[in-house]
Amino acid sequence: MENLYPHHIFYSLFYLLLLLIFQFSSISLLSSAYTLPDIYFINCGSDSNATVNNRNFVGDATSASFGFSAGQSSPVKASNSSTQTSPGLYQTARVVTNPSSPYELDIQQNGTYMVRFHFYPFSSPKRNLFDAQFDVLVSGFSLLSNFTVKNSSNSPVIKEFLLTINVGKFKIYFRPSQNSSFAFVNAIEVFIAPANCIPDSATLVTPSASNTSNYNGLLSRALHTIHRINVGGVNVAPNNDTLLRSWVPDDDFLFQPNTAKNSEFYNGRPVYGLGKATEFTAPDFVYKTAKEMNIDSNRGDNFFNITWRLVVNKNARHFVRVHFCDIVSYSLNTVKFNLYLYSKFSELVDPYEVIDQLAAPFYFDFVVDSDNSGYMNISVGPRRDSFNQTAFLNGLEIMELMKESEDMEDQASKSHMFIIIICSVVGGVAFVLSLMGVLFWRMRCRKAKAVESVDWPLVPMYGGSSYGTERTPNGSTAPTFYLGLKVPIAEILHATNNFDTKLMIGEGGFGKVYKGTLRSGMKVAVKRSHPGHGQGIAEFQTEIMVLSKIRHRHLVSLIGYCDEGSEMILVYEFMEKGTLRDHLYVCNEDTQKSFSGSELSWNRRLEICIGAAKGLHYLHTGADGGIIHRDVKSTNILLDEQYVAKVADFGLSRSGPPDQTHVSTDVKGSFGYLDPEYFRYLQLTQKSDVYSFGVVLLEVLCARPALNNLLPRDQINLAEWGMSWLMKGELEKIVDPILVGKINPNSLRKFGETAGKCLKEYGAERPNMHDVLWDLEYALQLQQTARNREPHEDSTTDASWVLPMTVVQRLPSQSIIIDESINDGSDTTLISASEVFSQLKIDDAR
Ligand SMILES: *[C@@H]1O[C@H](CO)[C@@H](O)[C@H](O)[C@H]1NC(C)=O
Ligand SMILES: *[C@@H]1O[C@H](CO)[C@@H](O)[C@H](O)[C@H]1NC(C)=O
Ligand SMILES: *[C@@H]1O[C@H](CO)[C@@H](O)[C@H](O)[C@H]1NC(C)=O
Ligand SMILES: *[C@@H]1O[C@H](CO)[C@@H](O)[C@H](O)[C@H]1NC(C)=O
Ligand SMILES: *[C@@H]1O[C@H](CO)[C@@H](O)[C@H](O)[C@H]1NC(C)=O
Ligand SMILES: *[C@@H]1O[C@H](CO)[C@@H](O)[C@H](O)[C@H]1NC(C)=O
Ligand SMILES: *[C@@H]1O[C@H](CO)[C@@H](O)[C@H](O)[C@H]1NC(C)=O
Ligand SMILES: *[C@@H]1O[C@H](CO)[C@@H](O)[C@H](O)[C@H]1NC(C)=O
Ligand SMILES: *[C@@H]1O[C@H](CO)[C@@H](O)[C@H](O)[C@H]1NC(C)=O
Ligand SMILES: *[C@@H]1O[C@H](CO)[C@@H](O)[C@H](O)[C@H]1NC(C)=O
Ligand SMILES: *[C@@H]1O[C@H](CO)[C@@H](O)[C@H](O)[C@H]1NC(C)=O
Ligand SMILES: *[C@@H]1O[C@H](CO)[C@@H](O)[C@H](O)[C@H]1NC(C)=O
Repeated sequence: MENLYPHHIFYSLFYLLLLLIFQFSSISLLSSAYTLPDIYFINCGSDSNATVNNRNFVGDATSASFGFSAGQSSPVKASNSSTQTSPGLYQTARVVTNPSSPYELDIQQNGTYMVRFHFYPFSSPKRNLFDAQFDVLVSGFSLLSNFTVKNSSNSPVIKEFLLTINVGKFKIYFRPSQNSSFAFVNAIEVFIAPANCIPDSATLVTPSASNTSNYNGLLSRALHTIHRINVGGVNVAPNNDTLLRSWVPDDDFLFQPNTAKNSEFYNGRPVYGLGKATEFTAPDFVYKTAKEMNIDSNRGDNFFNITWRLVVNKNARHFVRVHFCDIVSYSLNTVKFNLYLYSKFSELVDPYEVIDQLAAPFYFDFVVDSDNSGYMNISVGPRRDSFNQTAFLNGLEIMELMKESEDMEDQASKSHMFIIIICSVVGGVAFVLSLMGVLFWRMRCRKAKAVESVDWPLVPMYGGSSYGTERTPNGSTAPTFYLGLKVPIAEILHATNNFDTKLMIGEGGFGKVYKGTLRSGMKVAVKRSHPGHGQGIAEFQTEIMVLSKIRHRHLVSLIGYCDEGSEMILVYEFMEKGTLRDHLYVCNEDTQKSFSGSELSWNRRLEICIGAAKGLHYLHTGADGGIIHRDVKSTNILLDEQYVAKVADFGLSRSGPPDQTHVSTDVKGSFGYLDPEYFRYLQLTQKSDVYSFGVVLLEVLCARPALNNLLPRDQINLAEWGMSWLMKGELEKIVDPILVGKINPNSLRKFGETAGKCLKEYGAERPNMHDVLWDLEYALQLQQTARNREPHEDSTTDASWVLPMTVVQRLPSQSIIIDESINDGSDTTLISASEVFSQLKIDDAR
């Protein structure tokens, strides 16, 4: 985490511009400017408000009107305040006996609405709500028929619907069934959902056919939620969902539980906005967990399906949404698989067909007819043409398309007329006056509310859900970015004990790094830029934009940022075990720093190198069309508690194809690791990272710094020295003493060969990180299986790894002399690039 951006001021203005454009375009993507509304949440039959899930459920028995009326109905109270859950909301209800007197809500905006009814029966002196049986109807749809809660367990029954409602009065009718004299309801939620949350058309699938057609007109239907499942995860309660939904685990629906296992929980944040999925499609929790194939290497055939069997209504039509997010693969394009609906229909799921990014949520929508079995089968299964043959699923939603019914409006209108006539006769002018009064009051009320509704944090977690727009105190929506990552300065001060120097774990040209603990208990690394260190706020924001999009198991994740006042603070996940170098050798410059490293076994070192290679491979090929790290070294590879390697400090790394205009605008990189080609072209490429990584490989093998001026001249430069031994075929003579005799010779040879390829003089001759990764995995396999094969067996047919001597000579040894301060080769970022260049150019010209 050190050596951040020594030269920022002139840093790539072009690039910045591009990013800013990108930033704004992705904001417009993210912010369909939706915020969860605060109307209508109705606490039926109550004269007091109840706050549940951060929403104010307004009591409907008060005289004031809040844009709705309860019709002709009577409030009832539970005689026993026995209801422990959600006190307030379920202790009262409204009892309806007259089917033609609906709840009426003022709807201000056309759109798809979430409509929920809460039923929690109790007995009161007046009524025993357990006896109720009734229908719930809205214009054109019968939402519930012969509904009864007689034998519900001791928890509220919540029924949820999605339907399109147009501006005007939205009426909800409760109609008692024949053998019941009343209906009841405890609470009602009606609020607009994000635009396009339900498509108008989707692929229509029938159980018995493999061919499909298109279903159009979903928006004119009412959808009833039957299942909402967080596959591979836990219950997600409404307070953790962006639309107050509930998600349940999938285990009860698995057809053969042994075919599936929960995927490793994804600790980063899913990357929204690249596909159709947004944080409102499903909450983070859904995308951070999954079920994947339970592959057992002892089993001969690992080619099977995972099937979920879900109870649905017979012979009905269902809207089915399947959620995916690849938290399973380590690299792009390694997994594709099939999704099956029943047994005939299949669909290819290729996470990278559309989105070139790991952990990017996406989903498929279908309209599926059910057969008369009462079950719907949904399966995922591997494909032979996939690199890694597995399959996964993150979430599942099934909603029934409700049948249309008689329009209550027509039936009700007659009796309504009658009531109104009576009213006007009896109430006369007073009625009209009071109506006007109410309307006037209502308008004022709504105006006041518009302002009041301005800031509420639905998910008050840092790094939780984020919103594309930020509400400013005066109510305008100002575009910012990744608000969810924003951490208040107070939290930072609390976490770092007011930037206690005792908690400082690093310092560099950019500022200081502190260890901190957020109130949630999460340990973090807090990187605070020096005021006036040169990085402008725009660059800072650009950086956050870039960093927040990069999520990978082997890259240190950004958790948050703070830009209050003049502060520019980045909050990263804390890496318990520090830097890779700390575990390899003692830094002799800094004598008080003791050798904290446990002795890393060869296996573990290989795993660390593989992890780091995966991280770099992702940077090169993943998000944003390729990012060059530009400062790969052993202090930028950090280890977590389990020694999982994560690459750090890939901040404002230039991305994209080489651009001649960028020449020599900035240098990042450290002596001893720097690509020799850099001195010729003054340009860093992905292959420069490969070179630096080659140096790290030697460092891991030999446990010595990349540069050490205290050594004899031919040993100062590790790359040079290591290569000379490699070419002599005597690499084993320079391995870390504590590893002597513990490395399988084949593994060592493969490893040396890989380092040699990385350190080739010409970038074009070096492998890419993907190839490096495979070679290292092979070296690990050789170590683990430790087969005693003939030495020649493991050499690749390509003998080109034998390096010409010139490679190492190309690295100007003069550079070591130039900078007197370098005595151990540690962390010597080129501070004054131009000085060095002039020297190097001279050197090169000789
Ligand atoms: C209930 O909430 C409404 C809307 O926020 C508010 O106007 C009213 O005063 C509240 N009533 C009570 C009794 O708190
Ligand atoms: C009220 O609560 C008491 C104890 O909590 C219980 O014994 C009684 O049966 C309850 N009465 C009703 C009507 O639920
Ligand atoms: C709402 O939808 C109705 C019917 O489609 C249309 O007539 C009306 O103009 C729309 N109103 C608004 C405000 O969009
Ligand atoms: C509801 O029950 C009544 C009789 O109680 C019956 O006639 C009607 O068909 C039922 N409706 C549905 C949708 O089951
Ligand atoms: C609930 O009611 C249904 C029919 O309405 C019945 O089949 C079922 O056995 C009841 N369950 C319990 C626990 O009473
Ligand atoms: C209403 O009648 C139907 C059939 O006649 C019966 O199945 C149902 O249990 C009855 N409901 C109530 C609340 O008595
Ligand atoms: C599927 O194909 C059959 C004949 O091949 C046809 O009769 C049927 O209508 C098709 N179904 C759909 C949904 O297109
Ligand atoms: C949900 O929210 C609660 C409280 O905010 C929290 O303790 C819990 O960990 C959250 N996560 C899930 C998956 O429910
Ligand atoms: C659902 O899948 C199970 C297991 O594959 C199978 O036994 C059952 O017949 C399937 N049902 C349907 C309706 O396809
Ligand atoms: C998975 O299920 C589908 C549909 O039932 C079937 O066609 C396919 O052969 C199954 N795949 C495996 C590997 O069993
Ligand atoms: C395939 O993916 C699994 C994780 O789901 C991983 O453990 C395994 O190493 C991968 N295999 C290959 C060849 O990448
Ligand atoms: C309020 O809005 C105005 C312009 O609409 C803006 O200039 C001002 O900075 C805003 N105030 C705050 C506190 O955001």
